[in-house]
Order: sequence, then C-alpha cells, then structure tokens
Amino acid sequence: MIATWAQIGYLVAAVCFIVALKGLSSPKTARTGNALGAAGAVLAVVITFIAYKPDNLVAILIALLIGTVGGVVGSRRVQMTHMPQLVALFNGVGGGAAALVALMELGEVHDGETVAAIATAFTILVGAISFSGSIVTFAKLQELMTTRPVTFPGLPVLFVAGLLGGVAVSAWLVSEPRVWVGVLLCLLGLAVGVMLVLPVGGADVPIVISLLNAFTGLTVAAGGYVLGNTLLLVAGTLVGAAGTLLTKLMADAMGRSVFNILFGAVRGGSTLGGGTASERPVISGSAEDVAILLGYAQRVIIVPGYGLAVAQAQHTLRDLVEELQGRGVKVDYAIHPVAGRMPGHMNVLLAEAQVPYEQLREMDEINGDFKSTDVVLVVGANDVVNPAARTTPSAPIYGMPILNADEAQRVIFLKRSMRPGFAGIENELLYDPRTTLLFGDARESLAKLLASVKTV
Ligand code: TAP
Repeated sequence: MIATWAQIGYLVAAVCFIVALKGLSSPKTARTGNALGAAGAVLAVVITFIAYKPDNLVAILIALLIGTVGGVVGSRRVQMTHMPQLVALFNGVGGGAAALVALMELGEVHDGETVAAIATAFTILVGAISFSGSIVTFAKLQELMTTRPVTFPGLPVLFVAGLLGGVAVSAWLVSEPRVWVGVLLCLLGLAVGVMLVLPVGGADVPIVISLLNAFTGLTVAAGGYVLGNTLLLVAGTLVGAAGTLLTKLMADAMGRSVFNILFGAVRGGSTLGGGTASERPVISGSAEDVAILLGYAQRVIIVPGYGLAVAQAQHTLRDLVEELQGRGVKVDYAIHPVAGRMPGHMNVLLAEAQVPYEQLREMDEINGDFKSTDVVLVVGANDVVNPAARTTPSAPIYGMPILNADEAQRVIFLKRSMRPGFAGIENELLYDPRTTLLFGDARESLAKLLASVKTV
C-alpha cells in the first residue's frame, strides 16, 4: 500500500489534470491549462520515484532522458501543419507502453484474480491496437505510405476474425495468465490496429487519431487497475472520455458517423480526397480590385481555412484586418469547427498571430451575420463554405454544417488554383457571379492586398 502523503500528492496531480482540461476549453486559458497539466504529470512522476524507490533507477533515468529529449526536440521542430502526426506518434507510444507494462505484469497475476486478469488482457489488446493503428496513421499523414484508403478483398472478414480472435485469446489469458498467451494477444492486437486504420482515407485520419487516443486512455486506465495505481486510473479515464467526446464532436462537425469514417471505404462508400481542377470559367480579379471591395465595405467576415496554415499567412492576415479596422470596417473571423486539419487548428494559428480572441466567432454564433455582410474574404478555405453540403446528397460532405458565406453580398476567395479542397469536390460558390478569385499563395496575395488597401 502506498504511503498517505503519496496518495495525497496523487490527488493533487489528479486535480491538476481535471482543472487543466477545463483550462484547455478556451483559448484564453489554454496556456495555463497546459502548464497545469504538465505540472501535474511532473508531480506524479516525482511522487512515484520517491514512494516506490525502484531498484533499477539508472535504467529508468536513462529511459526518461531519451524520452524527454525526443519529446522536446520533436515538439519544438514540428511544423503546425504536421501536428496531427506528432500527436499520433505520442499516442501510439502511450498505448504501446501500457501494453508492454501489462505484459510484464502478467507474472504478478495469480490464478483466481479474475478482474485483474481481465484488465490485463484488455490493456494488452487495446494498447497494441492503439500502438499499431497510431503508427499507420503517422505513416499516412507523413506520406510514408499512400494517404488514400487501402482495402483488399477479404479485409472485412479478416478484421472481424482478428477481433473475435482477440476476444477469444483474452478469455484464454484470463483463465491461464501465461506470458506467451499475452504475447499472442499482443500480436493479434497489432494486426487488428493495422486493419482498422488501413481503409481510412488520409483526410479522415485526424478523427481516427482522436479515437485511438480514447483507446489509449482506456488502456492506461485499465493499466492503472492492474498496477493498483489510482492516478493512472484517473488520468486514463480523463483521456478516454476526452478522446471519445472529441471524436464524436469532429464526426458531427463533418456531418458523418464514426462508423462511416472507419468503414466507409470497406463498404465502397465515401472515401474523401483526390479530385481534379475544373476548367469552367470564373471571375478572377487583381489585388487592387479586391482591395477596393474590402476598403469600401462596412462589414467584412474572414473565413480562414487549411490554406492559411499552409501559407503561414496568419500574421499578414492580422495586419490586413487591423488596416481595415483602422479604416472603420467591422471585421470578424468566422471559425468553422473542422477548418484546417486538426481540432482548433484556426484558433491556434490565429492565436499565434495574436489576433484578439473576441474577434474569433464560432460558426453557430456568426452564421446569422452573413446576410448583412458586404464582403466575405475566404483565405485558403473551401469545403467549410461549400454549399454542396446543403444541396447535393451525393457529395461526401453532404450534411456537414457550413459557414453561410454564400449569403453575403460579395465573396472573395484567395487560393492558388481551381483545385478542390480536402473533400475533393467542386465548390459552386467559386462560379457564382458575386464571387471574385484572387489567385496565388495566400501570404503573397494578402501582402499585395495590404499594400493596395493602404492606397485606396
Ligand atoms: P479545404 O477544403 O481543404 O481547402 C483548402 C484550400 O486551401 C484549398 O482550396 C486550396 O486550394 C487552398 N490552399 C492550399 N494551400 C494554399 C496556399 N498556400 N495559399 C492559398 N490557398 C491555399 O480546407 P477547409 O475549408 O479548411 O476545410 C477543411 C477540410 O478538412 C474539411 O473537409 C474537413 O472535413 C477536413 N478535415 C478537417 C479536420 C479538422 S479536425 N480540422 C480533420 C480531418 C479533415 P489551392 O490548392 O487551389 O490553393
């Protein structure tokens, strides 16, 4: 039994995690929340060292050092647009570690300890699924393999057989907790994880990362039960619950079910991605034309999207907005929940450019304002303003709530070409007579616009 002071310390760490999650729910408090969560984790590690006094201290410290260096260097170097694959990698490592710990603990599970044996089997199976699934998502996002859905005849049968096999071997492990049975279960879990993620298209992968994150959380919680560690149980449950809610929120924001995201390709349904550029005529304008529209407007709404992140144009966009506001134009940013490629992508990007939070308006809050808006400036976004989501039942984004940019007087798109967005489908709004396209990299276009607005 762990000492009382250590249990109180764990309680403090658990409170830090819960308050951290609360802090992460708003951009204003996110930094403090993050710091509090990290402080809770450090406290938990220090308490564990002092309370358990491990014999193999040197080996553990070396492992800690390697992990810390890898984590710090990786996180500092990663580009914002590559963040989802970093999260996938970290998540996979967490699931894999929990599965390994459970395998090592198998020797401690004695006959008759049924609940502990069930928790151990669960940790090994789900931890292995989370590990291999996360590694495949990483490979897809990093383009180390094709980002398109990979399916082959018999995949659904193999997948179901793998899952049923996993359940059967888990039952075997519970009745006979031997290490080799645990290793067999782990191998089955690895295979199921690969088969789970292979059919998911590149664009849906961020949602699968969130789902695997929930799996890792549950694995860690079960691991906490196996090790008799309450803090692991609490932390794992928090991650499991947060991951599950985030997965559901993202799927809802895309107007799709989690089942469709995971198994759409296997069933021959929607597999997003791809798409070619259209050659239909559009109205394109120069930076000077667009600057006149913006400079003489009373109300402008900015719709940022993935292309803003690619072009790293957030600072130039903020400068342009400040210039317009200086001229008396009312300007807001309309934030779609799945704009970009990861949850909160636009919030993070604009916060980096120190755009005041109060100018960021969520979809439900701003959608009624488009009717009375003179100009909508769409910067590197496409799907989040595509009316096909309302009008075309065959479109992969049908049912996804969108920003009502098409209700404004004029719409301006900043993009490089006529290529479609993530969903790989045409956007009729690009061909609307009220729409003007300013072609080019968003950062260059915004810099030209800024210079032109200053002269009109
Ligand atoms: P998209 O529909 O993907 O459109 C991005 C646009 O940016 C494209 O039209 C592209 O056109 C343009 N672009 C790319 N690089 C650019 C650059 N350097 N300069 C200027 N424009 C550039 O993005 P969105 O509207 O943000 O929608 C997000 C999509 O991702 C949705 O379909 C959503 O479901 C999906 N998704 C989101 C998430 C999360 S959690 N955010 C997760 C998975 C999937 P050009 O190539 O012609 O420039």
